[in-house]
Amino acid sequence: MESNREVFGSNLMAIFALAGSAIGLGNIWRFPYMVGQHGGAAFIIVYIVCTLFFSLPIFYCESLIGRKTGQSTIGAMRQLAPGSRWALIGIFTVLGPLLITSFYSVVGGWSFAYLLRSCFSSFGAMSHAEIGSMFAQFTGSVWGPVLAHTAFLLASAVIISAGVRRGIEAFTKYTLPPLMLLMVLLMAYSVSLPGARTGVEYLVKPDFSRLDAGAIAAAMGQSFFSLSLGIGTVLTYASYMGKKDNIVSTGAWTAVFDLGFALIAGFVVMPAVFAAGLEPQAGPGLVFETLPFIFADMGASAPLLSKVVTITFFLSVLLAALTSEISMYEVCTAYLVEERGMARKKATLLVFFVAWTIGVACAVFTKVFSFCDFVSSNILMTLGALAFSLFVGWRMKKAAVEAELTNDGSLPGNRTVFKVFYFLTRYIVPVGIAIIFLSNFISL
Ligand code: PFF
Repeated sequence: MESNREVFGSNLMAIFALAGSAIGLGNIWRFPYMVGQHGGAAFIIVYIVCTLFFSLPIFYCESLIGRKTGQSTIGAMRQLAPGSRWALIGIFTVLGPLLITSFYSVVGGWSFAYLLRSCFSSFGAMSHAEIGSMFAQFTGSVWGPVLAHTAFLLASAVIISAGVRRGIEAFTKYTLPPLMLLMVLLMAYSVSLPGARTGVEYLVKPDFSRLDAGAIAAAMGQSFFSLSLGIGTVLTYASYMGKKDNIVSTGAWTAVFDLGFALIAGFVVMPAVFAAGLEPQAGPGLVFETLPFIFADMGASAPLLSKVVTITFFLSVLLAALTSEISMYEVCTAYLVEERGMARKKATLLVFFVAWTIGVACAVFTKVFSFCDFVSSNILMTLGALAFSLFVGWRMKKAAVEAELTNDGSLPGNRTVFKVFYFLTRYIVPVGIAIIFLSNFISL
């Protein structure tokens, strides 16, 4: 089985795929509204610190396991710790991606529906309240969200069934550069709006008095979600990396892209929100209620420009969501192919069927949606990340970890990173994860 395994065409392609997984709804949809809810720049600073000291080490844990074994999650754990209970990590890495694939596809579907709406109709004559109630009506209905979820999941299935090189790699390679460009253009538009300055200040001038323990836990959780940690996605993608690729620089580039993209999204959303005199704490509705209103309202004198901006925005959300969705889809597919011996097309179809069914329940029942979100993001991802860090820090041999991060010593420059990483992984990361995990149950 192992000899038939595909690998990414180059280290750059691995970075594209991993960055594609990281950059998603978490950056465009979740990050700006969390920044809004937790007080702006101070939250961003904590978020950056969490990414460097917690998320990046976990990213390295997963990637070194994946690249070392060249297998997907369960096989990888079995190879490194035969006969032990560590293979139980598989519970996080099969259930987690399956649940996230399902509800993520629902939100991906919303962005698809909003893209269609911005192409064929306009938000122009509607008030903010009307756009808000349109969103509530749309997400509260059955057919629209279910159809949009189906279309989104189907597109992901088509990419996955084409394989690692012709599917995942080709899609992320052609999607990520234009996506970056679109977002930079949107940012330029947003910061140039009259009155945008207050929004820019909100993102760069920290007010630490708004920062409480809840905000710190939220920043850490968001950083995990954004780098796709804890459920085997990074492990699986890294298992498609070449033996000469550099895990350390790949992780660093992925984190830089992910962070950069989240900040750009912040600079797209907040200046526009302030320019329109609206509240930054709008929550999850920020992207689907507030932004369409702002783009239509601010562009009232230039309706064509406003239409182009709205279409560009939802196209960016859709593309970012797709590059992430396929990474979770791949974890489930790789499991079926490698552990259950299924053909790739059949495995893709089976995952489609299960994720579609769970997704329909999420699309129709808000409680199921929130349950899947909570269980996967707050429990499975966190416990998975904890398990990976304990495994690498305390179960694997130190020499084996160092050998994987330095490519058997041929990348001596990575040795210093290894030392810092190893210390963080053993002593700091598990404590931090335990804190976020507990904060889910005790309101901080
Ligand atoms: N990182 C993605 C985002 O920010 O939208 C979400 C995600 C992808 C989470 C893949 C988990 C995962 F395995």
